[in-house]
Amino acid sequence: MRTLILLHGFPFDHKLWNHVVPLLPKTLQILAPDLRGVNRALSTGVQPSIDIMADDIATLMDHRGIEQAYVAGMSMGGYVALAFAQRYRHRLAGIALVNSHAWADTPEARESRYKLIAEMNQKGVEAVLNAMLPRLFSERNPAWDAFAVQAASHAGIEGLAWQLEAMASRPERVDLLGTLALPALVIHGEEDRIVSLERSKDMVKCLPFGQLTVIPGAGHGTPIEAPSAVAEALRAWRGRGGSTLV
Ligand code: MLT
Repeated sequence: MRTLILLHGFPFDHKLWNHVVPLLPKTLQILAPDLRGVNRALSTGVQPSIDIMADDIATLMDHRGIEQAYVAGMSMGGYVALAFAQRYRHRLAGIALVNSHAWADTPEARESRYKLIAEMNQKGVEAVLNAMLPRLFSERNPAWDAFAVQAASHAGIEGLAWQLEAMASRPERVDLLGTLALPALVIHGEEDRIVSLERSKDMVKCLPFGQLTVIPGAGHGTPIEAPSAVAEALRAWRGRGGSTLV
């Protein structure tokens, strides 16, 4: 049985994929774990790192007896998928980057993450929601916002700060793309205000077997805004032989 691992973005948890999973083939084993930070206990005393999140995925696979998997990551989940590709290349069957990218933070982006952490320490989780919610979706919809509000409250200040610091310290992985000679899918929300279409196109050019799906009318949170289109893109994802993967 093929395995697909779905990794959520920030400030979400595994529920980001709730409306996508039922639309995927029943023949597929699907895992949608919470990333470190969502579980506060696991982030306490551990140096924030996207690589550690990738190690967690390998450990999860070990526990489930899974040798290889397709990994699809939304935004921060994509950063983790790329770290997994670098550290566990032999265990990766294919990679999907959903509203994500391979570049490191600019010094300004890094600084604003640390400012956000400082603000959160003063004002609480609200600070992250106030910063993120206006940019996450193509339009404001209380039902969509609820995914982030619930997950961020659950992660709490400590978990969110850990994830922000992990993202701030991640390395650039653009050069890695050219070495990933495996089925690679880039999904882009046409109205994404966090990842540009140009970046998605550039990544597809770098990936030896890159495919691009642009989802019209959706912003950064495509698995929530357009679950059918995301599931359809994953179902249509083709391997080198032309057959569908998931
Ligand atoms: C996400 O959706 O995971 C975040 O926007 C990623 C980021 O802040 O770089």
